[in-house]
Amino acid sequence: MKSIVALFVCALTATALADAEINETAFKAGRDRIMAMSRTCDENPATAVDQKALKKYLQSNGPAPANGAAHALCITKNLGWQNEDGSVNKPVITEKVKAIFGSVDAKVQQYIEECTEAKATPEDTAEQLLKCYRKHSPKIE
Ligand SMILES: *[C@@H]1O[C@H](CO)[C@@H](O)[C@H](O)[C@H]1NC(C)=O
Repeated sequence: MKSIVALFVCALTATALADAEINETAFKAGRDRIMAMSRTCDENPATAVDQKALKKYLQSNGPAPANGAAHALCITKNLGWQNEDGSVNKPVITEKVKAIFGSVDAKVQQYIEECTEAKATPEDTAEQLLKCYRKHSPKIE
């Protein structure tokens, strides 16, 4: 179960945002919430994933794991990032981003717009949100 940490928070790529001054307390609290939600989603057979398969997939080293999309949607719904109907809750996401970065500049706003765009299905949208989170998260120890 711990490996989900690696999936969503440890394997962060360095980005321009990595240099930004961030609120580590807020970032770590958000990270812990994602981990907790992933554990919760693993308790339901309909949204549980094989963590090893998911890890390989996220490292572009294997096929999408069974339930991967359902797992992602379960996490984002539990976080309040997506509503029951699958639509993106942009105000909630913007608040989270503000808590971490202190403010939302033009570049961060651009990332929010890209990351919260609705995809073909709620599951696709959820996977995009989590991918964006990994991609744009600050790199901290
Ligand atoms: C950082 O975030 C925490 C939790 O949201 C908050 O309590 C604290 O006041 C924030 N610190 C700063 C410097 O903004």
